[in-house]
Parts: sequence; structure tokens; C-alpha cells
Amino acid sequence: MFSFYNGFKKFAFAMDPETAHHQSINLLKRFPLVLSEVFRNENLGGRYGVQVGNLHWDFPIGLAAGLDKNAEAIDFFTRINFGAVEVGTVTPLAQEGNPRPRLFRYVEEESLRNMMGFNNEGAEAVRTNIIDSNRNGKVLGVNLGKNKLTPQENAKDDYHTLYGTFAPLADYLVINLSSPNTPGLRDLQQKDTLLELLSELDALRLAFPKPLYLKIAPDLSFEDIPDIVDVVKEKKLEGIIATNTTIMPERGAGGISGRLLTEKAALVRNKVLECVRETPEIQVIGVGGVSTFNELWDFWKAGGKAMQLYTSFIYKGPKVLDEIKHGIDSVMAQNDLKSVQEILDNINHISKP
Ligand SMILES: Cc1cc2nc3c(=O)[nH]c(=O)nc-3n(C[C@H](O)[C@H](O)[C@H](O)COP(=O)(O)O)c2cc1C
Repeated sequence: MFSFYNGFKKFAFAMDPETAHHQSINLLKRFPLVLSEVFRNENLGGRYGVQVGNLHWDFPIGLAAGLDKNAEAIDFFTRINFGAVEVGTVTPLAQEGNPRPRLFRYVEEESLRNMMGFNNEGAEAVRTNIIDSNRNGKVLGVNLGKNKLTPQENAKDDYHTLYGTFAPLADYLVINLSSPNTPGLRDLQQKDTLLELLSELDALRLAFPKPLYLKIAPDLSFEDIPDIVDVVKEKKLEGIIATNTTIMPERGAGGISGRLLTEKAALVRNKVLECVRETPEIQVIGVGGVSTFNELWDFWKAGGKAMQLYTSFIYKGPKVLDEIKHGIDSVMAQNDLKSVQEILDNINHISKP
């Protein structure tokens, strides 16, 4: 398996990043069974589950949004050991996104920079793809975004439409206000605007209750985070996904992910965890530069449970999940524990090898 991905990666990394992405999704979409067998992760066997709100992830790492924007390869991604798969960002109408080139690799730093701009086939096509997909019993999230051409003041209408379309299909939904690639989007994270936008969904959420998350940027100032957490509490969202990509203007436009993001994302998610310490009903899903068991361990130590990744999957393939699983196994062995739940229950008293 390891050598298969390395071979595949040589071939894929010889192409420009976006072509490699589309070719890969195409393959994963056409041959989910064969490819999940080839890439097969070691069997999980029930010990690695975490409870995230009222959803059960059978592994504490999920796939982050943006890799399967159009929900084309759900069958593949739910066959390998992701505990949950998040598709999108989907916008109400199809849109092309920004001009190419818009995806760049920093191989040495195991990082990416993207300025895709929510390229996707639109809500109707994504809805059909989800309906037609085999999810293999896994948790499925759908990440929602506004169309670029929707004026800022009408953004709430886009999220309203999308919530209505996807609430009946998804296990959880995510309001994405944190992509750096849609002009003005991140401004919607501002407290009053956010409150207004979420209030618009009240009636619909009552009629179709689904866990609803807010995905935030790592570039928020530390002073803004408590305000956002207050809104999340007030509007009774399920939780926060922290974080999206970061801006590093010295590298060019767009958002940076992978190792270059690890430290900043960790600071922000720790701050979020600190703000929800007294409200354990608020979930925090950690994301941003997760590529080893160390990030998961630190997140657990800070009070979190489940994380997601994207960029390390590009650099390492499915073996990133096996490496994390081995980390978990070592902690279980060293501390004589039998499950991830037992690790979480004892996290303040145990150590890792
Ligand atoms: C090419 C690319 C496209 C992305 N598209 C989306 C997206 O559509 N919606 C979203 O919420 N996040 C998107 N992300 C952000 C990821 O979901 C994730 O938050 C971020 O990359 C940090 O995680 P990582 O370091 O594990 O990649 C994208 C990331 C990359 C690299």
C-alpha cells in the first residue's frame, strides 16, 4: 500500500496540482472499490470511535472540506479509515472559481497554497451526487458557501437555500465564512453580521434540525474568538471547525494549508477550546496542518476530540491515517487502555511514548 501511493504520487506530482487533483478524483470516483482495497487501511475494529455531539465517528480523524467539493468520491473516502467525510464547499449555483493556476505545492514544507474560489457544480448537482452515493455507514458533512456574485447583504439567502437543500441529506452542515478566496466572506464572521446571518436560519433549523457548525479562519484575532463563541452558544450551533487556510501574503494570494499552518491553527483551536471549556455541549473539530499523531494528542490534551485533515493526505496518502492509528495504539499499550474513549476519559493522567 505504501509503495502504491508513493508510485501514484510520483505520477501525480509530475502534473500540475489541479490537473492531478481532477484526475485523482476521477479515478477515485470510477473505481472506489478497487482503489480502497489497494489503499486499504488496517482494520479499525471498533476501538477508535469518538462521540462528536450525537454523531459517532469510528475514527477521530475526518476528511476536511475542499478535496471532494462536488461529492463525487464519497464511496472511496468513506471506505478508507476516515471517521467522517465532509464534502463541498457547495454554493447554490455552479461557479467556476478563480482563473488558473490557482493551486500550488510547497513540497519541502508539505504545504499547499490555493485560491480556488469555491469552484463547484452547484447545489443541485451535489445533491444528486450525494443521493446516488454509498456512504458505507460513515458520517457525512456538507460544507456550505455563498456564491461569489451574491451581494454581501444577501449572503444569508444563499445559506438559507443551502441549509434547506442539504439538511435532509447530511449528518451535519457547516457554514463556511472563512475562505480567503471569496471577497468579503471573512467579514461575515463579525459578531453582529454573524448573528443576523444565523438568525435567518432559525425557523428552518427548527423545522429540519441538523448539527450545524461554523468554520472559522486562523487569521481571526484572539479578541474576536470569544465573540464568535458567544454567537455559537446563543444560536445553539453544534460547534466550531477550526481552522480554514491562512493568508501569507509573502507567498502570494490565497490560503495556505499543511505544515506551514500547523502552529497558527493550533493556537486558534486552543483558544476556541478554552472559550468552550464551560460549555461541553459545544463541539470543536480541529483542522489545519494535522499530519501526525502529535497534533491529535495535543488537541486531546487541550480538551478536543475529533480532527480533520486535507493537505497531509495529498503528501502521504491513506498511510497518514495508519500512522495516526499507530500513535493511538502506542498510547493504549503504554497506559493499558482499550479504546479512544478510555484515552479521552483519562487524558489528564496519561502520557504518550
Ligand atoms: C485545495 C484546497 C481547497 C480547499 N477548499 C475548501 C473548501 O471548499 N471549503 C472549506 O471549508 N475548506 C477548504 N479547504 C480548507 C481545508 O478544508 C482545511 O481547512 C485547510 O486546508 C487546513 O487543513 P490542512 O492543513 O489539513 O489542509 C481547502 C483546502 C485546500 C488545500
